[in-house]
Order: sequence, then C-alpha cells, then structure tokens
Amino acid sequence: MIKPRGAPSAKLNDNRSDEVAQVVVITGASGGIGAALAERLASEGHSVVLVARRADALASVAARCGGRAYPLVADCTRRHEVRRAAAEAVATLGHVDVWVNNVGRGMTRQPSELTGTDIDDMMLVNVKSALYGMQEILPHFKARGRGHVVNISSMLGRIPFAAMRAAYSGAKHFLNSITSNMRTEIQQTHPDIEFSLVSPGVVRTDFGKNAVHGGPDSRELPDSQSAEDVAAVIAGVIRSRKPDVYTREGSQARVGAHYAAIGVDP
Ligand SMILES: NC(=O)c1ccc[n+]([C@@H]2O[C@H](COP(=O)([O-])OP(=O)(O)OC[C@H]3O[C@@H](n4cnc5c(N)ncnc54)[C@H](OP(=O)(O)O)[C@@H]3O)[C@@H](O)[C@H]2O)c1
Repeated sequence: MIKPRGAPSAKLNDNRSDEVAQVVVITGASGGIGAALAERLASEGHSVVLVARRADALASVAARCGGRAYPLVADCTRRHEVRRAAAEAVATLGHVDVWVNNVGRGMTRQPSELTGTDIDDMMLVNVKSALYGMQEILPHFKARGRGHVVNISSMLGRIPFAAMRAAYSGAKHFLNSITSNMRTEIQQTHPDIEFSLVSPGVVRTDFGKNAVHGGPDSRELPDSQSAEDVAAVIAGVIRSRKPDVYTREGSQARVGAHYAAIGVDP
C-alpha cells in the first residue's frame, strides 16, 4: 500500500505557476530514466507514483524526490500487479493525470541465434508491461474524460540498426504500433486521452548491464545521452502532449537516412 506523505499542491512551484501540478505514475522508476524523470517532475511540483520491483531502490528515489513521491512495489509483467498499482495510485492521490510506461529491458543476441523464449521475454517486458499499463488506467481516464499515456520506446523501435538487439528492436516496433493504434481507437470516443511515444537513442543507464545475455554497458557506448536530458524531454512531452517525440536532435534525419541507404523511396 502506498503511504501518503502529503497532499499534492494545486500549482507548480516553479516559474510556470499557471500550470497545474499533475499526478504522474512512472513504471520502472527505481533507476535510470524513470528515476531521473521522477526527480525532474517532483522538482517541478508534480506528484509522482514510483513503480518497480526493488523496494529499497524505490525508497532511495522517493527520498530524493522529497514529499511528492509514493513508492509502489509491483512487477509490471504481471497484469494483476499493474491493476493493483493503478487502483492504489487513484485511491491514494484521488486521480491519475499521466501514466508513463517506462519499464523495458534489452537483449543481446544475434537474430540467427534467437530462441522462442527470447522473443517471449522481450514481448513480455517491453510490450505486455505497457499494454497492461494502458489497459488498466484506461477505465479511470475514460471516467474522467481525459488522461495521458507516455510510452518509452527507442530509436531501435523505429529503425533496426543494431542486429544484436534484434528481439528488443522488434518488441519496440510492436510498442510503437500498438501505441499508435490505441490512440486511433480511443480518440474516436475520448479525444482528450492522448498516447505519446518517446524514442531515445543510447542513454547512460544500467540498461546495457541489465540486458538479457549480457552485452555492452550503455555508459561506455559512443554518442550517448544522460538520463537527466531524456527526463527533461519526457517532462516536455507531458506538458505538450505531443504524440511522437525523439529525445535528440537529428533523430528524424537518421531515420530517413537509414531507409534511404537501403533504397526505400520516401
Ligand atoms: N538506456 C538506453 O540506452 C535506452 C535507449 C532507448 C530506450 N530505452 C528505454 O528506456 C526505458 C528505461 O530504460 P533505462 O535505460 O532506464 O533502463 P534501466 O536502467 O535498466 O532501468 C529499468 C527500470 O525498469 C524497472 N523494471 C524492469 N523490469 C521491471 C518489471 N518487470 N516490473 C517493474 N519494473 C521493472 C527496473 O527496476 P526494478 O529492477 O526495481 O524492477 C528499473 O527501474 C526502457 O523502456 C528502455 O527500453 C533505454
């Protein structure tokens, strides 16, 4: 059960005092991008519900967020645990404005070596976790007539540029597709429920170290971005509600260049 630490403030405590503070649920908030996002949003005056499996790591992040953070232990690959997280967030804070599906995990294995279990693992943690998040918060958003889901994808969800990440890349492509299709379906009846996709490149987190079958440390790869920079972009998406955002300049051009290089006509 979440332990409330104080009511969320009505207004942001930074210079944008015309903006109302929001209640934001972040999955995968015990480290990496999710933790950086939690700290960023809390510093802007929002209330954050932090969801992940490691209670001790969640408590550390919550402490850094001050009194606006509510840790909640759940495994997002289990639908009933996501359902409980959504119910506890609403019960504790009264409502949820934004749900960020940030849980994800990499895998290092060439496509010719992939097993059926590898594919199942990547779909479970990268697609089903987000599907459960979207589906379990949707009744609440529909009842309110508004809401915002932010799904954290990857540049590998748009272009398959790293063969060793084939299964992860495929799962993120699926995530992109279902995000877009969910928006199309839901906005037919609920136009104020938005679904956003955010696509980072390499980010300096434990992602590489946590990847199934090992592989390179994301912190040692070239041309990486900090988790704090990515968090700033996601915070901007929560403000703008833009449907599809890259975290780095030049990403759109990189996508075009990838397909041009293999002879795909624009
Ligand atoms: N780092 C990159 O280079 C990069 C690039 C593009 C996209 N992304 C995407 O960005 C997102 C965040 O990645 P990151 O770099 O921050 O990775 P990370 O450092 O490995 O953090 C992953 C987070 O997800 C949580 N998590 C993993 N499995 C979970 C589960 N079953 N249930 C609940 N929580 C779970 C982990 O916490 P617990 O272990 O406590 O559960 C942790 O808080 C992912 O979707 C990833 O695909 C990352």
